[in-house]
Amino acid sequence: MLKKSFETIISELENEGYSSKILQVNMNGRYTSKDSDWNYKDVPHLNIVHESIQSVQPVVSNSYVGSINLTKLPIFGIEIPIVVVNYEFDEYDQIYYSSFGPFLIVVNTKSKDKPGGVEVESRFAVVNKPLFNFLVPLILKVIKKNNDVLMSEDMPMRCRKADLRAINHDFYNPDKTYSFDFTEEIYRANAYIKEGKSSIKISIDSIINNNKEAVIGEKEGIMSFFTTNKDQKILLWPTTCPHEGAKLNSKCMVNQRILCPWHHRRISHLFEIDKDRNFKIIPSIDYCIEIIDDNTLSISFRNSPEYYNTKPYEVFRANNIG
Ligand code: FES
Ligand SMILES: [Fe+2]
Repeated sequence: MLKKSFETIISELENEGYSSKILQVNMNGRYTSKDSDWNYKDVPHLNIVHESIQSVQPVVSNSYVGSINLTKLPIFGIEIPIVVVNYEFDEYDQIYYSSFGPFLIVVNTKSKDKPGGVEVESRFAVVNKPLFNFLVPLILKVIKKNNDVLMSEDMPMRCRKADLRAINHDFYNPDKTYSFDFTEEIYRANAYIKEGKSSIKISIDSIINNNKEAVIGEKEGIMSFFTTNKDQKILLWPTTCPHEGAKLNSKCMVNQRILCPWHHRRISHLFEIDKDRNFKIIPSIDYCIEIIDDNTLSISFRNSPEYYNTKPYEVFRANNIG
């Protein structure tokens, strides 16, 4: 597929008599290039994480996506439809283009790993006939404000990934960089434990006596759990979404199940028990629960992201509520 660089697009437009003004924003983060690449290509979070966008994507492929974004414009406060085409130009290097009245907006984001984190460079070009130059400062102000809002919503996702990486977790991606359509497979378990054990033993007493919201197992990550109470029963839940690692807690509960705050995957509890120790293990494709003895529960995480390549979760979901 032919892909043109940011510079080539701008220069071809200038050859047609258009002028351009570029705003550059550089950000440093404690996450990695992989995390910003994933976040920029993550299609399903758009309608969930970003309050100012409702997006319809008529085409989502491996390396490009065409979206109709119903965007609430900052400063003006009105919602307008904006068509955005987004493609990967090179590794950790993406291009977006769109139009807004007489203005074309071309954006380039590049991420580069550096010691302790990443540097993300974003360039926003406003391209227009010189007749409209007087309006360019206002357009740039709207773009800057819009970017600040979007980044404030995206940053917790990237930082959560950094937090999990810091405790030996990692995130599966079959290729070096993410593809747009891969991000839509929200029932995969891409989060995994890189080093260390992917199973844990916890005492049944600790579940029965757990204070609401206290974490059981590891402090953080895939092997940590929380409990809720329902109808005299104690329910055990994961604190980490297996898909891409979102943090889960009782605030994510909708109709007795978790609705993941990043991509709206539905997640069931893993285990339930009452004070008389009557228990039930809930089927899960990601976790295996076994009773070892009167007071010990073993919880294992599949920890094998490639397992999901054949989409076994489709069969699982057809037969279970998970
Ligand atoms: S992280 Fe994607 S659905 Fe939870
Ligand atoms: Fe985002």
